[in-house]
Amino acid sequence: MDILKSFIVFEGLDGAGTTTQIGRLARYYEFNRRAYEATREPTSNPIGVLVRQVLQKKVTTTPEALAMLYAADRSDHLYNPAYGIVHLLEEGRIVISDRYLYSSIAYQSVECDPTLIRTINSFPAPEFLIFIDTPVEDCMERIEKRGEEKELFDRAEFLTAVRRNYLEELGRLPKGVNLLVVDGRRSIDETEAEIRSYLSSFSL
Ligand code: TYD
Repeated sequence: MDILKSFIVFEGLDGAGTTTQIGRLARYYEFNRRAYEATREPTSNPIGVLVRQVLQKKVTTTPEALAMLYAADRSDHLYNPAYGIVHLLEEGRIVISDRYLYSSIAYQSVECDPTLIRTINSFPAPEFLIFIDTPVEDCMERIEKRGEEKELFDRAEFLTAVRRNYLEELGRLPKGVNLLVVDGRRSIDETEAEIRSYLSSFSL
């Protein structure tokens, strides 16, 4: 299994706080003048934009077609010659991504055949995987507080299945992936400190 060095992936349920923590880490790298790039999936590239339209229920499709769109968006995100993650890593940057293939394994496997999801997501693994583990009830509360229109997957029963899939997958990560599971119920500052101290033990 290929491991992408200096590639840091954040995963968690909707509302878990990955975006906030990536913001904090990015600020830290900025302050220390480290060459980094923060990115996310679904991306803001054309395939990612289509995915978001499905999430916002503006476009309707099947769970399988959506799974393939996520995988297509990911392939472009990794390998696009102009802005792909592989290209950025080769330039010597640290790349931090808000979600990656583990989101597909956890979310799409609820409604699609898990073998299909695994097959279409045989992408290289990141060197670091940070999972912010937040109970479903807390995530639902945060989603409600945002006051935005609920997206396709913002339902408690669905997120319960997603969390189960995540935990199962974390138990069988390939060798070479460094996993940090943080308790998403702690304060933003405490979580930030824990993530930072973990990464700095690897000089990142
Ligand atoms: P997210 O960026 O967390 O949404 P937002 O910024 O709008 O809050 O991700 C969008 C949704 O897509 C989220 O419910 C998780 C889901 N998702 C998948 O189901 N599979 C995937 O492969 C990815 C990357 C995301």
